[in-house]
Amino acid sequence: MEKAIKRIAVFSSGGDAPGMNAAIRAVVRTASFYNLEVFGIVRGYEGMIERDFRRLERKDVANIIHRGGTFLKTARSERFRTAEGRQAAFDALTDYGIDACVAIGGNGTFTGAKIFSEEFQIPFIGIPGTIDNDLYGTDYTIGFDTAVNTAVESVDRIRDTADSHNRLFFIEVMGRHAGFIALHTAISSGAECLLIPEVGGNLDQLVEYLVANARRRKLFSLVVVAEGNTIGPTPEIARLVQQRIPDFDIRYSIIGHLQRGGAPSSMDRVLASRLGYSAVEGLLNLKIQNAMVGIVNDNVQFTPFSEAINREKPIHHDMVRMAEILAM
Ligand code: F6P
Repeated sequence: MEKAIKRIAVFSSGGDAPGMNAAIRAVVRTASFYNLEVFGIVRGYEGMIERDFRRLERKDVANIIHRGGTFLKTARSERFRTAEGRQAAFDALTDYGIDACVAIGGNGTFTGAKIFSEEFQIPFIGIPGTIDNDLYGTDYTIGFDTAVNTAVESVDRIRDTADSHNRLFFIEVMGRHAGFIALHTAISSGAECLLIPEVGGNLDQLVEYLVANARRRKLFSLVVVAEGNTIGPTPEIARLVQQRIPDFDIRYSIIGHLQRGGAPSSMDRVLASRLGYSAVEGLLNLKIQNAMVGIVNDNVQFTPFSEAINREKPIHHDMVRMAEILAM
């Protein structure tokens, strides 16, 4: 006989993402609707070990849907990687009478949740909260849309100065080992070239493309570079290309953590609300555990952690081809 779920914990973990507060709000409001008690854990698994738990009621998540970051803070926890750390975390959950957990984060967060739920048989539901959009089992992750909007706004500004000076600009975006932010940013900003790990590429091919581009009387060019690309760090790419094409006037810009902040877009607020609501519904009414909730083709879908973590999320190579054609 499965134990009835009466008290849950929610926390954010890994790199923060705009929309995490909206997801926490949806978890608390939906759980409260079902008369569950909710505890927020501050700073993810680290706070679980340190017993930094806060009771959360409806009023505690008022006026946060529009705020970037996560009011429950986040952290990466080395201690949780140890058996002792996980035991301390489980003892804390037990002492607080927690029946299930909702973890908002990315790959690392769900890897920890999978190991923990197997060791201690405590139900987990994962909510995909990362700007990288690199999780299998959901079309989009919380924060991705806002991060792309931020990156596109930055690239549009760089376009103005690149145009004024007839310059070649390399612009680096985040995404860790994935190229989703770079692909959507390149298409939205009309960039001439895109460097993403999923397509690969080397310096010779890049130089050949840029020279051909210049011959087409493109007086300036924007190259969107995913930080995980196969050539190297953006400053190094700019230096090497400058060596190979001395006539070009080259600069670079790294957008960095600007992509992690800011008010979440309406897309991210709606996505986060659906995922937070569905996480609680899944736990309570569908008896689902140890899975990530996602939205696929506009439908709620639960994917076991083992798949969400290990299956590769494919990039749309046809979108890459389209980006190249539309930039010509
Ligand atoms: O995973 C989200 C992310 O922003 C990645 O895109 C980036 O590579 C990484 O986090 C940066 O990590 P940190 O904030 O710890 O520097």
